[in-house]
Amino acid sequence: MAWDAIILGAGAAGMMAAIEAGRRGRRVLVIDHARAPGEKIRISGGGRCNFTNLGIAPERFLSQNPRFALSALKRFTQWDFIARIDAAGIAWHEKTLGQLFCDGPATQVVAMLVGDMERAGVTLWLDCALGEVRRENTRFTVATPRGVQKTKALVVATGGKSIPKMGATGFGYQLAERFGLPLVQTRPALVPLAFAEQELAWMRPLAGVSVHARVSAGRTGFDEALLFTHRGLSGPAILQVSSYWREGDPILVDLLPGQDMAAGLRAAKAAQGKAALRTVLGHWLPDRLARQLAEASGVTGPLAELPGAALDRIAAGINAWRLVPVGTEGYRTAEVTLGGVDTRALDGRTMQAQGVPGLYFIGEVVDVTGWLGGYNFQWAWSSGWAAGQAL
Ligand code: FDA
Repeated sequence: MAWDAIILGAGAAGMMAAIEAGRRGRRVLVIDHARAPGEKIRISGGGRCNFTNLGIAPERFLSQNPRFALSALKRFTQWDFIARIDAAGIAWHEKTLGQLFCDGPATQVVAMLVGDMERAGVTLWLDCALGEVRRENTRFTVATPRGVQKTKALVVATGGKSIPKMGATGFGYQLAERFGLPLVQTRPALVPLAFAEQELAWMRPLAGVSVHARVSAGRTGFDEALLFTHRGLSGPAILQVSSYWREGDPILVDLLPGQDMAAGLRAAKAAQGKAALRTVLGHWLPDRLARQLAEASGVTGPLAELPGAALDRIAAGINAWRLVPVGTEGYRTAEVTLGGVDTRALDGRTMQAQGVPGLYFIGEVVDVTGWLGGYNFQWAWSSGWAAGQAL
């Protein structure tokens, strides 16, 4: 059968592109090997889907060319998506830092997109393995168990490599390479960081403890929650910084941002010299962490017995804790994939590959990766929308 557009992947980006092209009267086929569409939407945001962010801005996206995303993000904004959510009667709220979540289950967003696709006349084939993709003159052919499908426009919306258990594959990257498009090296991002046994032994007893921290890698830092786990460090501050961290580099953790601990400990020594370090630290930090820090400092006597240099050393361990991760937890738990199809090979207005007319790349497979907090879905909606106008 001949289609105006075949979209590979029924995720956030693919469904958005299909809706737009369908509304414009195109005969659209969406193919996915998963049994259900929008599986990542369903599990996103702890089941509540953080579907966009009020603070969408190009500097909150990582890419070899951060300005590439601007055109699509400006043409289909967070407000445009919010309008669709509102029109569908989906209740939402701002949680923190501009992050918008559904009040109810994330499946409402999937249902909205599937309903929009149906109304736009889009054909959706699920549980459908993709075979060979070829280009013959000005057309593409896609081999499927339901026969070879032909199309003028092929949209690759197969996402990144994160969470292979949910059906993530490197399909889009391989396809890009086959058509001669350059790739930016991929790596797991928005991912917990792993540590050597020496640090883990220290962190493990703290598993479950969460603190508001400032975590930096190089010049980029995030003020958000940090979570100790049995495997290392996680929580929004760590996930954010993982996108900027590189192997071998240290990260810097301030466990009490905005609080000068050297001054704080000196003042405490003057005011309550008889108190134990652990008690004093407990005024600022969760009890388990205060105890662990006090034990690690080797200090047993009262604060009054500690010289200024010792107080400074303890303060530095709190305000400027420097540690070197051994790696990340990898694609198994990463929320997204950094890198992907090099934006230099794509038209920022349409997402069409330069030099391969009719071939489009949208969503996570492209070298555009957002911060944690709804940025990645907004990129999926915006890039999908942009391609949908061009199909
Ligand atoms: P997406 O991965 O959504 O879709 C790709 C589709 O292609 C899938 O349906 C897949 O089955 C299909 N596919 C892949 N290979 C195929 C093949 N070979 N053949 C056929 N089909 C194939 N972002 C955000 O902004 N807010 C949030 O709250 C969250 N939360 C979140 C939680 C978790 C646990 C994860 C893993 C990720 C998030 N994200 C997020 C990130 C967000 O889910 C992600 O950026 C988007 O889903 C990307 O949308 P795409 O459509 O590009 O890919």
